[in-house]
Amino acid sequence: MTQATARAHSNIALIKYWGKRAGPGNLPAVGSISVTLDTLYTDTRVVFDPALAADRAQLDDAPADTTRLTPFLDLIRQRAGIDTRAAIVSHNNFPTGAGLASSASGFAALTLAATRAAGLDLDRRELSMLARQGSGSAARSIFGGLVEMHRGERDDGSDAYAEPILAPEDWPLDVVVAITDTASKKINSSIGMSNLDQRSDYYDAWVAHSESDLAGMREAIAARDFETLGALSEMSCLKLHGLMLSTRPGLIYWNPATVAAMHAVRDLRDAGTPVYFTIDAGPQVKALCPPSHSAEVARALAAVPGVLDTRRTGLGPAAYLLP
Ligand code: DP6
Repeated sequence: MTQATARAHSNIALIKYWGKRAGPGNLPAVGSISVTLDTLYTDTRVVFDPALAADRAQLDDAPADTTRLTPFLDLIRQRAGIDTRAAIVSHNNFPTGAGLASSASGFAALTLAATRAAGLDLDRRELSMLARQGSGSAARSIFGGLVEMHRGERDDGSDAYAEPILAPEDWPLDVVVAITDTASKKINSSIGMSNLDQRSDYYDAWVAHSESDLAGMREAIAARDFETLGALSEMSCLKLHGLMLSTRPGLIYWNPATVAAMHAVRDLRDAGTPVYFTIDAGPQVKALCPPSHSAEVARALAAVPGVLDTRRTGLGPAAYLLP
């Protein structure tokens, strides 16, 4: 038996990934830029055990489906030249599948733990490419701080990986997550974004404008310009949700509290607080602000009707092995 345990932190995209180009392994149609979060993470232990007849998985103490896990582990087994089945035990310290990027931290932790348990010692770029094949956003959770995922051009995905832009300590930023629903979402991202070119009339425009959004965000980060970073994040989020709404059938991830929290963020901003929102494929609202304003933002969001809970987090580290 060989085993390893890893922790990976979840991430939230400021410039969003949505849509896949042709080819295997979640090749993104657009690049993306994200922040890795300090206080939201997944711990995953992988044991390759010759006594197992099939892969087995447990998530937060309940048996988990291995449909998406076995083909992913096969990539690692193939690379390591083994065919041993694995037992996976994983814990999220936040609600699973509700738009808090559990597939990102989950597949990033699994990638690091499973490669190590299989006896492989891959560099970060290779880990990122592998994690992408589990879930596109997981490629970014291999790194900490501010991270860019490259769309890449090649069919084999050898140029579709993430890279760090800034370490967490290079530009402290906070995210206040307003949780408005803890149930798992009904339409996961993979299904929501499948065959988008045939399902949304807005898709070509989304892809066509992504490079300029990414360039603007890179500049804002280089200049440590929070207002521009925030404005671009809010715009990318609203464009993403416009695209989702335009998909046949239309994807509506918001609930009334999501909308109320968005207005609360804008009201705070009108009153002078530097804060901007972003939202993924779920109903939670994530407010970006300088750390000096996060207590005030958390208080305001907690007072919004329908907000169940808030969590404050700074920027977190790259994925790492646990003892
Ligand atoms: C809205 O990475 O979950 O969070 O590649 O199919 O696993 P798959 O999708 P996933 O999609 C994330 C979409 C998003 C935006 C983002 O994180 O960039």
